[in-house]
Amino acid sequence: KDSTSDYIEVDELEKVPQSEQKKWEKDQMASAVFKFGAKDATKKDDYELVLEDQIDFIQALQMPGSRDKIKKEPELSEHEKKKLTIEETKKSLPIFPFKDDLMQAVREHQVLIIEGETGSGKTTQIPQYLHEAGFTEDGKKIGCTQPRRVAAMSVAARVAQEMGVKLGNEVGYAIRFEDCTSERTIIKYMTDGTLHREFLSEPDLQSYSVMIIDEAHERTLHTDILFGLVKDIARFRPDLKLLISSATLDAQKFSEFFDEAPIFRIPGRRFPVDIYYTKAPEADYVDACVISVLQIHVTQPLGDVLVFLTGQEEIETCQESLQDRLRRLGSKVRELIILPVYANLPSDMQAKIFDPTPPGARKVVLATNIAETSLTIDNIIYVIDPGFAKQNHFNSRTSMESLMVVPISKASANQRAGRAGRVAAGKCFRLYTAWSYKHELEENTVPEIQRINLGNAVLMLKALGINDLVHFDFLDPPPHETLVLALEQLYALGALNHHGELTKMGRRMAEFPVDPMMAKMLLASEKYKCSEEVVTITAMLSVNSSVFYRPKDKIIHADTARKNFYHLAGDHLSLLNVYNQWKDTDYSLQWCYENFIQYRSMKRARDVREQLVGLMQRVEIEMVSNVSETVDIRKAITAGYFYHIARLSKGGSYKTVKHNQSVTVHPNSALFEELPRWILYHELVFTTKEFMRQVIEIESKWLLEVAPHYYKPKELEDSTNKKMPKTVGRSTRTE
Ligand code: CDP
Ligand code: MG
Repeated sequence: KDSTSDYIEVDELEKVPQSEQKKWEKDQMASAVFKFGAKDATKKDDYELVLEDQIDFIQALQMPGSRDKIKKEPELSEHEKKKLTIEETKKSLPIFPFKDDLMQAVREHQVLIIEGETGSGKTTQIPQYLHEAGFTEDGKKIGCTQPRRVAAMSVAARVAQEMGVKLGNEVGYAIRFEDCTSERTIIKYMTDGTLHREFLSEPDLQSYSVMIIDEAHERTLHTDILFGLVKDIARFRPDLKLLISSATLDAQKFSEFFDEAPIFRIPGRRFPVDIYYTKAPEADYVDACVISVLQIHVTQPLGDVLVFLTGQEEIETCQESLQDRLRRLGSKVRELIILPVYANLPSDMQAKIFDPTPPGARKVVLATNIAETSLTIDNIIYVIDPGFAKQNHFNSRTSMESLMVVPISKASANQRAGRAGRVAAGKCFRLYTAWSYKHELEENTVPEIQRINLGNAVLMLKALGINDLVHFDFLDPPPHETLVLALEQLYALGALNHHGELTKMGRRMAEFPVDPMMAKMLLASEKYKCSEEVVTITAMLSVNSSVFYRPKDKIIHADTARKNFYHLAGDHLSLLNVYNQWKDTDYSLQWCYENFIQYRSMKRARDVREQLVGLMQRVEIEMVSNVSETVDIRKAITAGYFYHIARLSKGGSYKTVKHNQSVTVHPNSALFEELPRWILYHELVFTTKEFMRQVIEIESKWLLEVAPHYYKPKELEDSTNKKMPKTVGRSTRTE
């Protein structure tokens, strides 16, 4: 075996006794520095160039066999040579031969579980088969839920294309704040959250003949609750067909839940995927991804690359770094097309990932775990998996919900690897050690229902008239204490009365497709006569992470531009500033460009705002503006977010009021240098510690005004609201 190869194949691992593992790893680490001899280097110009400035990095990346390959020009793969037409592609999908059997099974059974590997054609083909089989003939629709917005949009676009119709006509999609369907729509893709809301207006799903709960294995909160809801209506709507489709081995569990519904298995077609691990853990996995991509590009035969990152920021960093290095390489290497995909990416950009790669070029897709099972990108031969994903976590002990980057499960890792073997034999590079795969990763991802705040879900269920939540038919019940906390929170927000019944306020809150705290803030704007401002702030918060543009080569300019929008009272008001100034320029693109603002995000904020104004009309709140005073705006925000309050304590750090947990103002905040005594935060993001993102200064006495049942005056003593002098030693880490 080549001693310079630093990825090891999984079989090799099997040969190492477990007890030896740690020691073995340590040794490997010591010997892992790849010695790149001058003799070799002269032979492999391009290769050397890539490695020039990352000698320290090479250790992770020399792949077995790559040395021989460098001499040859990368070849076109078989698959590359024959690009298929749409019709040919449809027929080539693993599901195709089972079309008639599947339709037969649907006719015979009311509920059917469908299991098939990712990419076999479940999402795009089944609704079309159902349509052809006559399930849309009586004017009813076929619905198909997706856990992810991006998937709903892109799959709908694909199916519209396959059927030769305009998106939004016969085939459409509906996601939060966006409805791209019409009277003519017969195949409707939607997020699971959207279907959840549809139950409010159509509790028996009367307009549907078939409902497909797709990507059931993802086990999102909404999907989990939908299981219980659709199971219930199937009982009194015998004509409604239910299909539960899943990519993995949970089928048995779904079958049991749906009273032993039959399972229809679509045999997988998979090419072998070689799995490689790094010998030592990676210090910076984004950088490791960049190097890995370049290594593959220079040393491996053509075939596209899929990289799994955790979010937009990381994807952008990775993209910039790749572009930068490619620029330096110039024409020495083949064309490498870099395509990002994440939830907030505008849909026209998202669509690009499906464009065929031009002959002789290579495509690299930088994706969040959207690409794990929801989206299938053809032609992927190489997968790079750093082993992380972003997840929401709710701690019922501290009542804190926080977004954090966590290691993925083995099940996820295997799904990711599988993406490399769809069209040909592939390779998956795991940027973690074989040891940590074996011993550190959990078997399966914990379903969302067991790890996030249930406020939203409970409010929806209550609005559907489901009062007894403890006995609701859950596939896996949520922890009791989380359920109780959600009820308590809704009570404190005024959405439930002390019998746990929905109040008038709760009913109005349920009209908004947002978190209960946000809904409450919108409703409170009525009392404080600032609905215009609060609606804008809500819209901006819903896109906020992507409003400010911060290109690497212009960071100073971008940060100065951002600071010009800063409002002393805090970030919500800075966001309001951005929106209002943009509006004053008549929504100018040029203005965005000059001020380092993302035009697309602003456009989306404007759309969201419009939707919210419509919903405000529905709950009969007049749109009024209160420009002179920010106190009222901040009071309205506090009326919703009084759970999210932190108080300055000794040494210039913050502690949450109720649970005394340490939290820190995010460095990108307008209040980072200010240290007001009382602050309200919009959300927590955990990186090195709990960062509060989007904060405003408040006065403690407002808490007694907006949440007298939740706060006691004693808890809020020492509310002089004077600013403390700035202290030293705080983190200056920017994420
Ligand atoms: O749902 P499942 O994972 O079984 O497969 P699918 O999403 O229906 O994908 C079937 C095929 O459609 C794959 O070959 C995808 O590459 C292709 N597809 C596409 O080209 N463009 C999309 N927007 C979605 C799917
Ligand atoms: Mg699918």
